[in-house]
Amino acid sequence: MITFENVKKTFADGTEAIKGIDLHIEEGKLVALIGPSGCGKTTTMKMINKLIHPSSGTISINGKNIADRKDVDLRRDIGYVIQRIGLFPHMTIEDNVALIPKLKGIKKQEYLKRVDELLSLVGLEPSVFKKKYPLELSGGQQQRVGVVRALAGEPPIILMDEPFSALDPISREQLQAELKDLQKSIRKTIVFVTHDMDEALKVADEIVVMKDGSIEQIATPDELLRQPANDFVRSFIGEERIQSALNTFSPYTTKVTEIMDKSPEDSTEMPAIHAEADLKEAAEMMVDQNAQALQVIQDETMLGVIYKDRLLSKLAGIERGA
Ligand SMILES: Nc1ncnc2c1ncn2[C@@H]1O[C@H](COP(=O)(O)OP(=O)(O)OP(=O)(O)O)[C@@H](O)[C@H]1O
Ligand SMILES: [Mg+2]
Repeated sequence: MITFENVKKTFADGTEAIKGIDLHIEEGKLVALIGPSGCGKTTTMKMINKLIHPSSGTISINGKNIADRKDVDLRRDIGYVIQRIGLFPHMTIEDNVALIPKLKGIKKQEYLKRVDELLSLVGLEPSVFKKKYPLELSGGQQQRVGVVRALAGEPPIILMDEPFSALDPISREQLQAELKDLQKSIRKTIVFVTHDMDEALKVADEIVVMKDGSIEQIATPDELLRQPANDFVRSFIGEERIQSALNTFSPYTTKVTEIMDKSPEDSTEMPAIHAEADLKEAAEMMVDQNAQALQVIQDETMLGVIYKDRLLSKLAGIERGA
């Protein structure tokens, strides 16, 4: 888990790039930072691997303040993909990807196998590509290698700063889909910067909307579309996307986590429903068990509580909106 506590960054010239943010990024989640140019996305990201140091506040990874960690050690645990990936031009694709595993002292047999697996995962046939040099690949193919290189050292955290923005729309969509699949299978914590809302909605588990060095809203893609926190977020998402999301609002696709109360009163006596359940299931369970509220459970942890009143008004809203 990556935690920002009241983090500020003022650059030497007086620019207040980050004005005090609090952020919790859970392990295994893909979190997108989004916002207009200059809002502080890259600065936020670079503070995670200490390319930029906060002026005040604390950033910790798994409870440990990163200020206490050596830059080199920290960066070994954090993969980094940037917009125009810098592959080493005089090294083959295989050598580019194997560099970090080699530095980490992983056995040759092991990392060569891993390189093949990863290249296949992003749609680059190893036998065709691994002996080539970066300049023999298209931009999209190089970018895929960049993603693979960031993954190859098995870092628990991967930072991606507009990794797909230099790509044509088709490669871009492919890579978004591949990233999503990859994320499901490797379960890394990924922080992904973009200023493309469609991209964020597509790949992210959670979206952090930023403006002028502050966070405006943190929400799942669904929550963001259905409950934008303010006018800025609304206009940044765009009325069209919000309307089309509302039109597809359905008790079958809306998850209980979207309407639960995250800091409820005592919930020990309530029946439990799993976090993936939809509103229809929740309604059925309430009827079956004659319950006024359900606790929402994931991995044996209580995430929140869903109350009957809220559920009913939500369902009523859906019916009215239909
Ligand atoms: N080294 C620096 N010195 C002074 N100001 C800086 C420095 N780096 C960034 N800034 C300023 O800090 C603010 C945030 O910059 P940042 O690069 O984090 O924005 P961003 O959200 O990533 O924007 P973009 O979408 O254009 O990449 C901007 O106003 C920028 O001009
Ligand atoms: Mg940036």
